[in-house]
Amino acid sequence: MTNIKPEDLNYHYYSTEQYDRDIVSTIPGYKVLHNEIARIAKNLPPNPRILELGVGTGNTTLAIAQNTKNPNFTLVDFSEKMLNGAKHKLDKLNCKYLLEDYSAIELPQKHDAVICVIGFHHQESDKNKKTMILKIYNSLKRGGLFILGDLMTYDNKEFAAINEAKHYHFLVENAEGEEMLKEWAYHHKYLNSLASKESHIKWMNDVGFSTEVIFEKFNTVLILGKKI
Ligand SMILES: C[S@@+](CC[C@H](N)C(=O)[O-])C[C@H]1O[C@@H](n2cnc3c(N)ncnc32)[C@H](O)[C@@H]1O
Repeated sequence: MTNIKPEDLNYHYYSTEQYDRDIVSTIPGYKVLHNEIARIAKNLPPNPRILELGVGTGNTTLAIAQNTKNPNFTLVDFSEKMLNGAKHKLDKLNCKYLLEDYSAIELPQKHDAVICVIGFHHQESDKNKKTMILKIYNSLKRGGLFILGDLMTYDNKEFAAINEAKHYHFLVENAEGEEMLKEWAYHHKYLNSLASKESHIKWMNDVGFSTEVIFEKFNTVLILGKKI
């Protein structure tokens, strides 16, 4: 279950261009995160079946498509505006689009990879995050990859506090004016529901993923899970 509706995220008034500009300025390490995802994608087999949960305007999809051979994507988003942005950006690729809340549907099966980047933190509670991780595990082939890039906090309270401070500092540095900062800071404080990196790793290990932390900067973390 998700903690917000698409309209809470204000994405309906974001043009693809504005989203693509703002996401780089609000997510620390967004570009490096995507370089790492591109590097991981190179290990996927040819003709991979890939499921992406929360495709946004298609930036993560594109990073993967450029580094795989003949990928076949199923792309889910509950924001029509975002999904339309993705359709436009990805029009040369083999994609099926689903306008759905991914936590409310049965996920299609037998994927080589499931991708969820900067959206998983909208799963409302630890219980919902755990349920979603099991659904993702079940939608993968054996050996399949779960690429989870997201905003996370940390079990160690001091480390969590300093990284949250650094995230806000990043927002303050990048916002163009008070209105923009207000929206970004409100979003981070009230709309995002972060769990710790350590919890994500435990939940993934509990269902049967092996895990590796590939990248972290402040609250941005990339965990690679492999279905064993
Ligand atoms: C911040 S964007 C990230 C998109 C892309 N991975 C990127 O890095 O640019 C997250 C997207 O996930 C979508 N989203 C969040 N929770 C969702 C849910 N439960 N079901 C479907 N889409 C969801 C939002 O509408 C948004 O388009």
